Amino acid sequence: MTQPRPPPSSLDRPGDMPLAKCPRVISITSGKGGVGKTNVVANLAFAFTRMGRRVLVLDADLGLANIDVLLGLTPQYTIEHFLNGEKSLSEILIKGPGGMSIMPASSGVYELVDLDENQKLFLLNEVDLIADQIDLLLIDTGAGISSNVLYFNMAAQESIVIATPDPTSITDAYALIKVLSTQFNKKDFMILINLVNSGQEAKEVFEKISRAADRFLESLSIDYLGFLPYDEKLLFAVRNQRPVLEIYPKAPSSRGFVELAKIISERPLRDKGIGSVQFFWKQLLQSHQPLDREGEIV
Ligand SMILES: Nc1ncnc2c1ncn2[C@@H]1O[C@H](COP(=O)(O)OP(=O)(O)OP(=O)(O)O)[C@@H](O)[C@H]1O
Ligand SMILES: [Mg+2]
Repeated sequence: MTQPRPPPSSLDRPGDMPLAKCPRVISITSGKGGVGKTNVVANLAFAFTRMGRRVLVLDADLGLANIDVLLGLTPQYTIEHFLNGEKSLSEILIKGPGGMSIMPASSGVYELVDLDENQKLFLLNEVDLIADQIDLLLIDTGAGISSNVLYFNMAAQESIVIATPDPTSITDAYALIKVLSTQFNKKDFMILINLVNSGQEAKEVFEKISRAADRFLESLSIDYLGFLPYDEKLLFAVRNQRPVLEIYPKAPSSRGFVELAKIISERPLRDKGIGSVQFFWKQLLQSHQPLDREGEIV
């Protein structure tokens, strides 16, 4: 790790920030894989730490390109150690750039919905202990409509669906929104368009998704959050295992991430009643169906 890091700003810092709209729980998701979720999570988390927010990232993506790899981190423990009772929740957290905290989930997330009542109570107690030290929980959900992805989106208060101009990404984003709204009664979505050449192109992609949703799905609120341009610098940053915002703060995508963090923090919450980290975990743990290793309901 060659880049100097700013001082830690996350869970070990006193809660002295004016954070009227926090804590918030936001899932970052997509129908199709490889559209930029993990990069968005890493860079948004970094942008929020720069704004003085205490950010916890939950890596719920079980793919190979996990956030710890993207950020050059080697977690010693994962949520499995916590669930086995070997480590406390705070012991499994690792520090990332800007002082963000990361909860490495690994395949342990499959077991979350499978816990017995005592284990669930234990987990919720531990969550209580760290919840008031977090302003923002960002969840990298992985792609698709497997139940694992759906559960994390269902439990999160707000969801950002990422799509690109690739037609399959557009239809898959729509499919994900459809399943979440019809089967899980989720009605609010924010759409972020990645890998575009212009704002105009991004708007056109968004229109396609929202037109389809308007025609076929009832009473949905689908907001256009913004876009991120195709950016060579982001590719360099990925190779260097650093957030692009950290090492190329002036790059086009970096400006996009800063703008995005600003838009999100200024965006009023639709349903303030469900705005807590504890609520997220409770929702998640109430999902009864056990999952197999592919995340399908068994
Ligand atoms: N704005 C961008 N400009 C250029 N390349 C990008 C951009 N966003 C993403 N990429 C490229 O796409 C790759 C995949 O990004 P990322 O790993 O964040 O996607 P993902 O949605 O998390 O994928 P998965 O579904 O496999 O978890 C990156 O490694 C990078 O090469
Ligand atoms: Mg990913």
